[in-house]
Amino acid sequence: INVHVLNGPNLNLLGRREPEVYGRHTLPDIERMVRERAEALNVSVTFRQSNHEGHLVDWIQEAGAQGAGVVLNAGAYTHTSIALRDAISGSATPTVEVHLSNVHAREGFRHRSLIAPVSVGVICGFGPRSYVLGLEAIHRVLIERAQQAKP
Ligand code: DQA
Repeated sequence: INVHVLNGPNLNLLGRREPEVYGRHTLPDIERMVRERAEALNVSVTFRQSNHEGHLVDWIQEAGAQGAGVVLNAGAYTHTSIALRDAISGSATPTVEVHLSNVHAREGFRHRSLIAPVSVGVICGFGPRSYVLGLEAIHRVLIERAQQAKP
């Protein structure tokens, strides 16, 4: 099983960026946590970050073409990007949306996600653990889909 963990804008700043909201863990710390769980689950992980919307579109399409699943923290693009939403639905890539913070406990403009309606589900508010939970969730989804595909 293959999972792409994709990170959007400003997540390269984690650790320094508003630590009262996002905590002190850096993105490499989160990658280590994800890889540790992935190893136990026998999942192969591609972990990436970009501040550019188009890169994220390319990577979602790439994951879909490989039959991989996606764990996506699209950062602020969550709330604005029709392009990311269309990439997920257009490539039929099974996607779990994740956020470090509980976006529903924050500003109103973070309550709407354009990605959630085309995602399998959403996990938010658990800090770096949101990613580990997201990995577990997409792992389960991919196993179930593989079983359903069997004759
Ligand atoms: C975030 C929440 C978004 O609203 C914000 O724009 C981010 C980070 C999170 O992980 O909590 O960049 O996706």
